[in-house]
Amino acid sequence: MNIVVLTGAGMSAESGISTFRDSGGLWEKYPLEEVATPEAFRRNPELVLDFYNQRRKQIMEVSPNVAHLILADLEKHHNVQIITQNIDDLHERAGSTRVTHLHGEIRKVRSTTDPRLVYDLDGWELKMGDTCEKGSQLRPHIVWFGEMVPMIEVAQQITQQAEMLIIIGTSMAVYPAAGLVHYAPRHIPKFLIDPNETEVGYVDNLSLIRKPATIGIAELALQLQTK
Ligand code: APR
Repeated sequence: MNIVVLTGAGMSAESGISTFRDSGGLWEKYPLEEVATPEAFRRNPELVLDFYNQRRKQIMEVSPNVAHLILADLEKHHNVQIITQNIDDLHERAGSTRVTHLHGEIRKVRSTTDPRLVYDLDGWELKMGDTCEKGSQLRPHIVWFGEMVPMIEVAQQITQQAEMLIIIGTSMAVYPAAGLVHYAPRHIPKFLIDPNETEVGYVDNLSLIRKPATIGIAELALQLQTK
C-alpha cells in the first residue's frame, strides 16, 4: 500500500525538540520575524545564524523516538513516503529512506548567491565568513517565511498517489504544507495523530487520534498488521 505520512514538529516533540506554536514553543521565545525571514538575515545575519546553530546543536544531541522508528519499520511491508515540515534529520536517522523535506534541512547549508550549491555541514556551527566554492556567504538550507517552497510540487504529486494518509503532529497552520491534505484522493483513509486540537478543516474520511505521536502511531501500525 502507498502510505503517505505528513509530519510536523509534534513528531519530534518526544525526542525533546520543542514545537513552534505550543505554549512555551520556539516562536514564543524568538519572534519569527527576527530569526526566520530573509529580511531578518539581511538585518542581523549573526542572530539568524546563531538561532539555527542552536537548533542544529540540539538536533545533533537528540535521537529519533519510537514514532520515527515505527514509521521506518513500516517500510518493510508498505511503500512509505514521508513528507515532513521538520528540518531535523530524525526520520533519516531512524531508517526511513523516502523523506521529502518541505522546509529545508538544518544539517545542510547553501550559497546565498547560487541556491544550487548545497553542502552538508560538518558539526553544528555556521559562521559569518564561511563561504561556498564561489566565495559567497553560506546560509542555512531552510525555507524562511516569505520564501518559495521548492518541494511543494513533488509533495503534491506524492500525496496524489496515496492509498492512506497519516498526519502527525502539525498544527496545520502553515501553507502550502497544510493544503497538501486536499491533494489526497477523497476516498482513502486518513488519520490525524495529535494530542491537541488542530486547525484542520473538513476532510473526507479523516479519523482523529488524539494521542502523542509515539502512542498514536503504535496503535495504527498494530491495526495495519491485523488487516
Ligand atoms: N505528538 C504529536 N503531536 C504533538 C506532540 C506529540 N507528542 N506534542 C505536540 N504536538 C502537536 C501540537 O498539538 C501541534 O498541533 O504538534 C503540533 C505542532 O504544531 P506547530 O508548533 O505549529 O508545528 P508545525 O505544524 O510543524 O509548524 C509548521 O511552521 O514555523 C513553521 O517552519 C516551521 O515547519 C514549521 C511550520
